[in-house]
Amino acid sequence: MDCWKVKKLQAQNFRNLGKDVFEFSTGINCIFGQNGNGKTNLLEAVYLLTNKKSFRKNTGYSQMINIEGASPEIIIQSAFENEAELIAYSLRMTDELEERYLNNVFEKSKTPSTSVFINPFDSYSFHTSSTFRRQWFDSHLALIDKEFKQVLGRFQKAIRFRNSVLGMGGRNVSAQLRAIDEQIAEYSSLLTRKRHEFLHDLNQHITPTFKAIFSEEHKLELDLDSMFVHWDAQKIFDFYRHQELIDIKAQVTQVGIHRDDFIFSFDGLNAFEFCSLGQQKMAFLSLIFAYIELFRYKFTSYPIVLIDDVSGELDSQRWKKLITYLETKKFQVLISTANENFRQELERIPESKKFFIEHGKLK
Ligand SMILES: Nc1ncnc2c1ncn2[C@@H]1O[C@H](COP(=O)(O)OP(=O)(O)O)[C@@H](O)[C@H]1O
Ligand SMILES: [Mg+2]
Repeated sequence: MDCWKVKKLQAQNFRNLGKDVFEFSTGINCIFGQNGNGKTNLLEAVYLLTNKKSFRKNTGYSQMINIEGASPEIIIQSAFENEAELIAYSLRMTDELEERYLNNVFEKSKTPSTSVFINPFDSYSFHTSSTFRRQWFDSHLALIDKEFKQVLGRFQKAIRFRNSVLGMGGRNVSAQLRAIDEQIAEYSSLLTRKRHEFLHDLNQHITPTFKAIFSEEHKLELDLDSMFVHWDAQKIFDFYRHQELIDIKAQVTQVGIHRDDFIFSFDGLNAFEFCSLGQQKMAFLSLIFAYIELFRYKFTSYPIVLIDDVSGELDSQRWKKLITYLETKKFQVLISTANENFRQELERIPESKKFFIEHGKLK
């Protein structure tokens, strides 16, 4: 298995992180520290290296550059290793550019690995907001399917353009819509097919993953809530012709895959409506680890798993189960907490490496 793990990392001018060299274990790494000391920033540095963007929303170079730093560039140097090799990988960012180097050679697109980020608030957002769900599924599918990522970008641009045409009104709106809808119909058909297949693939893993983590039998299932499942581009185009007058009157695209939703059922009931917060959390964690299994199935390698700020939503028995699951798995984990009880729990893991962060520095 070609599984790249981050061995070393040193950041310069990245948020509040000092220039310490972090030397990670290829198994479980625990990151401790009080609130606001840089735990999430460290995970963000790993994510930025591997996924080429931050997991924080609306954040870019100007938020990431150290506000007190004298030099106007961020440099993150790292080493990644797999079973056979060690490679150097670095990132340099300025106001204008972003460059990456693999073994000191300029590298345009590839990163050594991919990271999956888990945040305690995501479970709640996931179960309460359809926009969040859509973004969650789309961004995770984009990580494993380049064509999906490209077409989704084009679709979003086309929908924005369609809405601006509708917003402006005027005489030849209808002709303009036809031209845009040819593209939108193509994209919608492809994206819906890929979302549908993605859920099908996740469904293979999600029930067994729930059982593997929590040793309980529950049937978990994901479904796509969309009109356009199994529709071809022509049928979608024709639909938009019927919809034209309604959209022109509303001045916005009323129906489309930009509003589709995802349904998560737990023993046949809608998890968003019927599950307790704890069950929702368990279901959400199972979804993420099912995704990680799917990732391995597709690429014969695991992503790096970043778990930020674990705290008390799960009872202690279930956290123990989750930790045992992590210990048996072959992926690299970076897990952070400011919670004292959970820290004690993590400190018991025999093979894990511990880091204490204070004001962005290793203690
Ligand atoms: N660009 C930046 N330059 C310097 N410090 C920053 C920057 N961005 C955020 N910080 C600081 O980082 C700290 C938050 O770090 P974070 O990793 O989120 O903390 P936590 O340990 O709670 O996860 C805050 O004190 C914040 O002021
Ligand atoms: Mg944090």
